[in-house]
Amino acid sequence: MQPHFYVTTPIYYINDVPHIGHAYTTIAADIMARYKRMNGYRVFLLTGTDEHGQKAEKAAQQQGIHPQELADTMVHRFTSLWKILNISYDGFIRTTEERHKKVVQYIFQKVYERGDIYLGTYEDWYCVPCESYFTEMQLKDGNCPDCGRKPERLKEESFFFKLSRYQKRLLYYLREYKDFVLPEVRYNEVESFVKGGLRDLSVSRTSFTWGIPVPVAAHHVVYVWFDALTNYLTGIGFLEDDEMFKTFWPCDAHLIGKDILRFHAIYWPSFLMSLEMEPPKRIFAHGWWTIEGQKMSKSLGNVIDPHEIVNTYGVDQFRFFLFREVPFGMDGDFSRSAIVHRINGDLANDFGNLVSRSVTMINKFLNGKIKRPDKKGGMDEYVEDHVKRLIQEYEKAMEVFSYHKALAVAFEVISLLNKYIDTEAPWKLSKEGNARLPTVLYNIWNSLRILACILYPFMPQKSKELWSALGIQKPMEKILFEDEKAFYYSDNLSLIERITPLFPRVEI
Ligand code: MSP
Repeated sequence: MQPHFYVTTPIYYINDVPHIGHAYTTIAADIMARYKRMNGYRVFLLTGTDEHGQKAEKAAQQQGIHPQELADTMVHRFTSLWKILNISYDGFIRTTEERHKKVVQYIFQKVYERGDIYLGTYEDWYCVPCESYFTEMQLKDGNCPDCGRKPERLKEESFFFKLSRYQKRLLYYLREYKDFVLPEVRYNEVESFVKGGLRDLSVSRTSFTWGIPVPVAAHHVVYVWFDALTNYLTGIGFLEDDEMFKTFWPCDAHLIGKDILRFHAIYWPSFLMSLEMEPPKRIFAHGWWTIEGQKMSKSLGNVIDPHEIVNTYGVDQFRFFLFREVPFGMDGDFSRSAIVHRINGDLANDFGNLVSRSVTMINKFLNGKIKRPDKKGGMDEYVEDHVKRLIQEYEKAMEVFSYHKALAVAFEVISLLNKYIDTEAPWKLSKEGNARLPTVLYNIWNSLRILACILYPFMPQKSKELWSALGIQKPMEKILFEDEKAFYYSDNLSLIERITPLFPRVEI
């Protein structure tokens, strides 16, 4: 049977336009989806928009429109950006869709019937932008511990989920599956939070109306996080398409930012346990980007619009930068000088030059014709072994979302090839009429071919350009890495005659 892989992004609030943070998680998910597809997996990449809640209601009010109207406009801002960024998503979910409302109400009802939801009253500090309640103790100098804004004192009748009941089971699950939460620092955070004791969680609101009505009490709306997390079920056909749902659940990886870890690693598995469903297999929480050393915020006016970055530097350059610059999982700083530095250094000088130099030599010395060699000599064996070892390292890194390491491996291949070219000196071999010339150039061609595959999940467009420059006809979306990573591969191929530089240098 074909293996399968289900990966998700958070669903994004529609009260804000998409920025670099949204792009980051979504590109990360796309990288994994492409990687798994090229490894033969049937992949489902789900993304979408989180359209209910007080934040959306307030934003719509300010514009004098209905929240649905706001959502209907804003959703295009996301889908059109995903197109520009080449996000190969398989499903898009909006929480205002009828199919989702059905799932949320069904699940609420089920958990209620299990005796895990009860009616009580809630009084605490509530942060509207974060849609979260906090205890006095959790506040920082009287402000929201997450965003630093002033919370409001709220008291309302509310349904509660018996989160406390799941503390032991969660702890047991965490200890059984040490890689349930990655990276390790986030795992430790979750574990100590659970160990510290879990309070029951308010899962309904009566103070506003923009949400899904609670099935057993229609004057309540379902708490936006209960609603939002459930998207991961709706998106793969829960209650609608049994075959698909059974194929993809439990989810292989929820990708999120570190700010929404508690919701995903504690609340979400507990809801699922109450439903007697399997928890997701893995949650990966990445770090946050600051901008030129400062926190990104509307009030500072330094919010990075991905459209502008793509227009200035190119889409694959942007995708590459995000994952080469900072280890995935850690915080990082976005700056113009850093992205220019990466483009001119890694991409234009190292990678781009290697490609144009190689293509030029194959054309000049062999009329662009590549032939499988039958004898090895010089550094050939060494290069082959080394590349094979690097491929294994790359695969190991990809499996645990170590994108930074995977890219470092690609650049080891690049410098290895540069060394190979300098040592074997094809221009000398050509002058001497040396019989090793076609072999050396074949090895260069072959390593570039493997390099295109390795880089494909990160830079799909540029890798495809390289791929066709190498004279390979088969569409890159259809490749199987298992076949492609073999060192000897094809025969009698014709390269394109001239390649335009893959990565033009940018001026600072
Ligand atoms: N709607 C919720 C998620 C529900 S998932 C069931 C939500 N939406 S959000 O629009 O506020 O943001 C979502 C993602 O953007 C989060 O993963 C968050 O970490 C990420 N980022 C927002 N700002 C960011 C940075 N400055 N840097 C990196 N990621 C950031 O939360």
